[in-house]
Amino acid sequence: MRIDIITVLPELLEGPFRHSILKRASDKGLLDVQVHDLRAFGLGKHRQVDDYQFGGGAGMVMMAEPLANCIEQLQGERTYDEIIFMTPDGQRLEQQTANRLSMKENLMILCGHYKGIDERIREHFVTLEISIGDYVLSGGELPAAVLVDSIGRLIPGVLNDETSALFDSFQDRLLAPPVYTRPAEFRGWAVPDILLSGHQQAIDDWRYEQSLQRTRERRPDLLDDEA
Ligand code: ADE
Repeated sequence: MRIDIITVLPELLEGPFRHSILKRASDKGLLDVQVHDLRAFGLGKHRQVDDYQFGGGAGMVMMAEPLANCIEQLQGERTYDEIIFMTPDGQRLEQQTANRLSMKENLMILCGHYKGIDERIREHFVTLEISIGDYVLSGGELPAAVLVDSIGRLIPGVLNDETSALFDSFQDRLLAPPVYTRPAEFRGWAVPDILLSGHQQAIDDWRYEQSLQRTRERRPDLLDDEA
């Protein structure tokens, strides 16, 4: 999968994809994330990318022209399955969205800043608007990193144990069960006996029960939604 990210703060995106699972994904050639500095498409000798909003009001707006030129240059090189704009008024990112996007070939992500981007870009280029939650961050870069992480780990072959994403929280609209590792007893706190029993079916049943119980206690809305 190829993901192109357009931003005015490329430095913010230098770190997240160079470690851990996403690094492994790119080392294996399964994920190629390219970050593009919108400033390179800025206007005039100051490489302007934002301007005051029509109608007045505080806050700058990212201009249509640099964004359109950058998007069109990228579109000249490949066809994008989705052009995604990270914005607090987008649809809330959920596991199902990540699952769906992990099966695409080419994604483009626009990171907003200041007051947002000129609405005409949203109307004429953007195909999907995503929020990572009901709070406002200072830009779309961290949300873009969250989105890419949620997608990247699902690309087949990225996780070592290919089945492990299947048991993540939310995959069955259930939270994940508790997990333990050695030692079996720590400060007198013992691991549940069942996990040491060696009876795989009994362990699977226990995990399922724990998932259900945890979901009932912490996120009953997930169970309601199923109905
Ligand atoms: N940009 C600023 N806040 C955001 C959020 N909550 N989700 C996505 N993009 C954003």
